[in-house]
Amino acid sequence: MTELNQPLTFRHGATVANRFVQPSMLTNSGEDGYATQDTIDYYRAHAKSGGMVITEYMYVSENGGPALTWKRGREQLAVYDDRFVPQLAKVAAAIKSDGNKAIMQIAHTGREANFRAMNGQPVYAPSAIDYPFLPYKVHELSDEQVRQIIADFGAATKRAIDAGFDGVEIHGANHYLIQQFVSAYSNRRDDHWGSSVEKRRNFPLAVVKSVMDTVKKYAPAGFIVGYRISPEEIHGKNIGYTWHESTQLIDQITKEFALDYVHLSMPHFDAQPGDAMLLDTEKAAASFKDDPVPLATLFKPVLNGAKEIIVGGVRTKEQAQAALQLADLVAVGRANIIDPLFAEKILTGREDEIVPEITLDQVKKNQMTQGLIDNYSGPAAGIPLPGAENIKSLHQGYGSWGEMDYPANDELK
Ligand SMILES: Cc1cc2nc3c(=O)[nH]c(=O)nc-3n(C[C@H](O)[C@H](O)[C@H](O)COP(=O)(O)O)c2cc1C
Repeated sequence: MTELNQPLTFRHGATVANRFVQPSMLTNSGEDGYATQDTIDYYRAHAKSGGMVITEYMYVSENGGPALTWKRGREQLAVYDDRFVPQLAKVAAAIKSDGNKAIMQIAHTGREANFRAMNGQPVYAPSAIDYPFLPYKVHELSDEQVRQIIADFGAATKRAIDAGFDGVEIHGANHYLIQQFVSAYSNRRDDHWGSSVEKRRNFPLAVVKSVMDTVKKYAPAGFIVGYRISPEEIHGKNIGYTWHESTQLIDQITKEFALDYVHLSMPHFDAQPGDAMLLDTEKAAASFKDDPVPLATLFKPVLNGAKEIIVGGVRTKEQAQAALQLADLVAVGRANIIDPLFAEKILTGREDEIVPEITLDQVKKNQMTQGLIDNYSGPAAGIPLPGAENIKSLHQGYGSWGEMDYPANDELK
């Protein structure tokens, strides 16, 4: 039986000290795209959250974000220009201060770049669909723009290397641009980038190639490359893809490119087909529950040498141990926002000291950013955090994903 304290070596030679990973989680602490002192303090406080800490998603193209941002100074971080590198180097150093690996998650948020809409700038996606859940219009990316974004993923990887990160994670999950290209619901193109399940794979494949080419050229030995995917996209009648297509995609990617890991984004680490939407509240129709085994198991045959990370709902040592029986590494998200020593306490036999919910005292200890505080103390937090009601007094307004202030719809370009 694999133990949580066992080191793991990836195929390109990097070794992580234990099986815990902190997954990517937005801190809403950027200003004009730059990481701030708040960002750096937060990551230093989380330097022991796993043998590998993956940063929040950073946007690789100027038109690729910010998403889930409602105010200047509460922004998603950017990596689309060299000017962001010096601050990002401080983030990498903060994460690495206890000897753990720092991974940058790189993304283009596509239709989700809401702060562009709030600032009256155009928002782009694979197809110009009138999404009922977006209070702004989206524009179709031209072929030239698509190719530029692919190059931007490579340039962002170079910046991650320059900033001292140990690896990058390509964000192919959670409805951002890469997933939007894979999804039959959001990709209605009839060019090289769409129209059949095979052509909807061209964008993710080109992004991985761009990243891998950059790594070959510039990265030190052992640089880690991972790919995050949502195993399925099922929203009521709107079917983006099922696990059948996502496993085929991963099979093709991992056969063509030697990825170090694949990271399944799921609400529960043992989710089965039909269960795997990001939010706990979303469930697919029974007809999608066609194979009652964990998705973690269904992806094993398509890893082709990559390691597997799973995530979702791990809050205790027992759950972490159960997750490790299904995959190589266990990511722990919200439990680490609350208590960044979650992993450390388990690894040193002090699991009874884990803090289970957020409190006013814990907000200081974990260096929670004001952006995260506003998210969770406001009226409409996205992914629920245990104890959020304890920190309502810290709310500074513009509080959350539900309180965004858009210009009137006809003003949106
Ligand atoms: C505040 C917050 C921000 C998140 N931001 C990201 C992100 O930037 N990129 C990403 O891939 N997932 C993001 N996620 C999803 C987490 O990585 C993780 O998959 C999810 O929280 C489920 O794990 P948990 O139950 O351990 O929290 C975010 C989750 C939370 C709670």
